[in-house]
Amino acid sequence: MEPAQKDRTPFSDIDALSAQMSEIVLDAIVAMGRHPEIQRVRRVAFDSLRPATGQRLLDAGSGTGEVARLLAARVGASGEVVAVDHSTSLTAAALTRHDGSNVRYMLGDVRALDLPDNAVDGVWCERVLQHVEGADQAIAEMIRVTRPGGRLCLVDTDWDSLGFDGMPAGLGDAVLAHVRSHFIPRQQDMGRTLRRRLVAAGLSRVSPTPVTCLFTTPASAAVVLPMVNPRVPAESWATPPGLRDEWLASIDAAGASGTFLAVLTIWVVAGTVPG
Ligand SMILES: C[S@@+](CC[C@H](N)C(=O)[O-])C[C@H]1O[C@@H](n2cnc3c(N)ncnc32)[C@H](O)[C@@H]1O
Repeated sequence: MEPAQKDRTPFSDIDALSAQMSEIVLDAIVAMGRHPEIQRVRRVAFDSLRPATGQRLLDAGSGTGEVARLLAARVGASGEVVAVDHSTSLTAAALTRHDGSNVRYMLGDVRALDLPDNAVDGVWCERVLQHVEGADQAIAEMIRVTRPGGRLCLVDTDWDSLGFDGMPAGLGDAVLAHVRSHFIPRQQDMGRTLRRRLVAAGLSRVSPTPVTCLFTTPASAAVVLPMVNPRVPAESWATPPGLRDEWLASIDAAGASGTFLAVLTIWVVAGTVPG
């Protein structure tokens, strides 16, 4: 039987994780935000959302609140950012990182936002929907709380685009077959479905931008790709232990010889709420 979403992605229910996994996930979110390729994705998203002084914005699935604080710097003292996440531990981590900017942190589910209709001028939702059962319900909620003419900016991964080079032929395929069915979110195509979802929801001026992230060292890739990260414990892999060890050893060898390569496309899709 297929594992449930919560067993395939630690990000769908972080509060239910062991202390060890919870620490790994928190560190991962912070490290991803610092990664140059994720920062490149975010620059595209900022250009798509175009946050402006005085606006009220929602960061849906805000994690440690890093983007919420970047958005707050853009909207300034006359604006506000509402940062919503359903994880108590991540919301607590966001509060400890707060910099005094105009961010209001709220616990909540992106599928049932505790906000009135037309409450915000725009929404940022980054690498969240792949972890949510009911992504279209979440999108409908984001549209409901956005005023007519406001913008939604969704950022998500297309795990089907993941590719490797430098490791022995065949080994990567065997590992990917395992991790695709057990280890990465069931909605592994979320990124490339975003345009269709926003068009179907009636948004106009829908602009899809694929950003292909490039990783040329194992250390760089491990920040974003869990199957390259040796900190992810063996029990999370659902692969025979020998296969995981062989894979990680081959990654080390490719890194040492300078031939390691990984690519992953993350989509930035924005659209305007009609009315
Ligand atoms: C990969 S993290 C991304 C966090 C943040 N957007 C960023 O880019 O750093 C996914 C986030 O989505 C949150 N999340 C997952 N499902 C959610 C839901 N149904 N409602 C609210 N937050 C959710 C998780 O708690 C986690 O903070």
